[in-house]
Amino acid sequence: MKGLILSGGKATRLYPLTYTRAKQLIPVANKPVLFRVIEAIRDAGITDIGIVVGETAEEIKTAVGRGGQWGIHVTYIQQDNPLGLAHAVKVSQDFLGDEPFVMFLGDNVIQGGIANLVQQFQESDWSSQIVLTRVKHPEQYGVAELNQDGRVIRLIEKPKDPPSDLALVGIYMFDQLIHRAVEEIQPSWRGEMEITDAIQWLVEHGHQVFPYIHRGWWIDTGRPGDMLEANDLVLEELSPTIEGYVDRDSQVDSRVTVERGAEIINSVVRGPTIIGQRSRVVNAYVGPFTSLYHDVVIENSEIERSIVLESSVIRDIPARIQDSLIGRNVVLNRSPIKPKAYKMNLGDYSQIGLLE
Ligand code: DAU
Repeated sequence: MKGLILSGGKATRLYPLTYTRAKQLIPVANKPVLFRVIEAIRDAGITDIGIVVGETAEEIKTAVGRGGQWGIHVTYIQQDNPLGLAHAVKVSQDFLGDEPFVMFLGDNVIQGGIANLVQQFQESDWSSQIVLTRVKHPEQYGVAELNQDGRVIRLIEKPKDPPSDLALVGIYMFDQLIHRAVEEIQPSWRGEMEITDAIQWLVEHGHQVFPYIHRGWWIDTGRPGDMLEANDLVLEELSPTIEGYVDRDSQVDSRVTVERGAEIINSVVRGPTIIGQRSRVVNAYVGPFTSLYHDVVIENSEIERSIVLESSVIRDIPARIQDSLIGRNVVLNRSPIKPKAYKMNLGDYSQIGLLE
């Protein structure tokens, strides 16, 4: 069985972070989402993995390489335009051949891995297995309608009037029939070749599509709020370790990870939280559900439930920062020069919430 990870696309909902970085490489609890996807597939025993890449191909290739660090072999498949998930399957036909495969969206994070699912599919004679989960806003996803026997009868992409609350999680298993299905379908109202329509084609032509209802958590990290939620959930599951330095004047609770070379000086850090390599927390408060990536400085400031990416500096900020997603090389400090005013140098689509 092969693996196919979809890591193309534009990610406009995560601007400005994704102007300069592939969304799949944004870290959750200090590990890029794409690396978590690779590990989930590898842990299910699959080592031959294709990654569909688009505009951000070079960045993804640099980060993942040939896959040796995970003991897998990676093949990159270029998709020139993000024309849809079914189109991504189409451009991957040479890599996939006639083998069954698991397709995993490179921006999804799921609890508990996929080993059981892959095993169940390998032992079956189904054409496809889809993963479903109950959600509050099904209209934002692909939605499945099941009959009384639990069989899939209909799939619709982002319906205005959803027939159920069962959303398609971004993990799908297919045999070679999917290649026929993606040839038969037409682009949807949003101009994309939808994988949902290709699976619907399988159902309509009498092929077996089996649902698997996922009961743990699952996050599609499409928006900043989703990134923070995924960060909360993954941090809760980390086994904490202290490899960096914590001075005697600091209080660091038992659910905090301090990575190598990090320093906590005269500060309070509450877990679950992760402080990345060579980051410095000085005279500061870092509250629960926070991930500081590597080489970050937090000094004379307070931060809670946030993600801060590499090499950013937060210094002398009088109010607590909360629910924030802060990019790379950001500097947030108190302006010492008069006039007393907010002075900003923000990228396009930045969002700031100031106190009254
Ligand atoms: O996350 C689950 C949802 O994912 C499903 O419920 C939907 O049925 C499915 O269509 C998909 O919807 P999204 O609108 O969230 O997909 P998105 O455009 O965010 O793309 C998902 C991933 O696939 C992302 O890592 C980018 C990549 N991609 C996307 C497209 C459209 C490609 O590699 N190529 C593409 O052409």
